[in-house]
Amino acid sequence: MRLVAWQPDDLLRRLDDVVAVYGEAMGYRKELLQTRRGYIGSHARRPGFRAVATLTAEGRVAGFGYGYTSAPGQWWHDQVRSALDEPARHRWLADCFEVVELHVRPAAQGHGIGARQLRALLAMAEGRTVLLSTPEADEQTSRAWRLYRRFGFSDVLRHFLFPGDERAFAILGREIPIVERQAGG
Ligand SMILES: CC(C)(COP(=O)(O)OP(=O)(O)OC[C@H]1O[C@@H](n2cnc3c(N)ncnc32)[C@H](O)[C@@H]1OP(=O)(O)O)[C@@H](O)C(=O)NCCC(=O)NCCS
Repeated sequence: MRLVAWQPDDLLRRLDDVVAVYGEAMGYRKELLQTRRGYIGSHARRPGFRAVATLTAEGRVAGFGYGYTSAPGQWWHDQVRSALDEPARHRWLADCFEVVELHVRPAAQGHGIGARQLRALLAMAEGRTVLLSTPEADEQTSRAWRLYRRFGFSDVLRHFLFPGDERAFAILGREIPIVERQAGG
């Protein structure tokens, strides 16, 4: 497995693979994936865009992650902003990198790929804070939650409902640079 940094055009060239990994990892239906495909394509052009991917020896995409500068007018930013009070907005959103997607194919999960992708992505990120959203789940057994907690992410909002998605999400954040806890610590 090889971790690579992607430019916007690299992601756009591999958009079919990216959407397939996303769909497998999140267990989303085909119809929803078509809509997501359009969003992901447009995200690659946003300011502060940074992306990483993990490629197999044959060049298949085993995982990917990307983010960009969070800014007013973006749907996610505006949803989160509307749920925060003024001091929290200032603290979290004034100079913020949003981790938009981070996924690993189910068959490749649990081998440290997600951690490597997140570490590399955050090392390239610009901003004072980093925010992300992840479905609510058991913190002890969910890979995503274990990963984010080890990277020092704390709760910004819990049980948050985005319009159009019936699942509850947590918004997690932390300051940049990231300091990781030792595994098992
Ligand atoms: C979340 C995700 C990106 C993590 O990638 P990964 O390569 O599977 O993760 P890693 O191997 O780096 O391990 C992450 C954590 O899960 C733990 N883990 C590994 N196997 C596990 C298992 N079978 N059960 C529970 N936790 C496990 C690891 O020990 C690590 O926790 P630690 O830091 O406390 O040691 C990936 O699992 C994924 O795509 N999941 C589905 C989509 C998703 O939830 N995306 C992120 C939310 S938007």
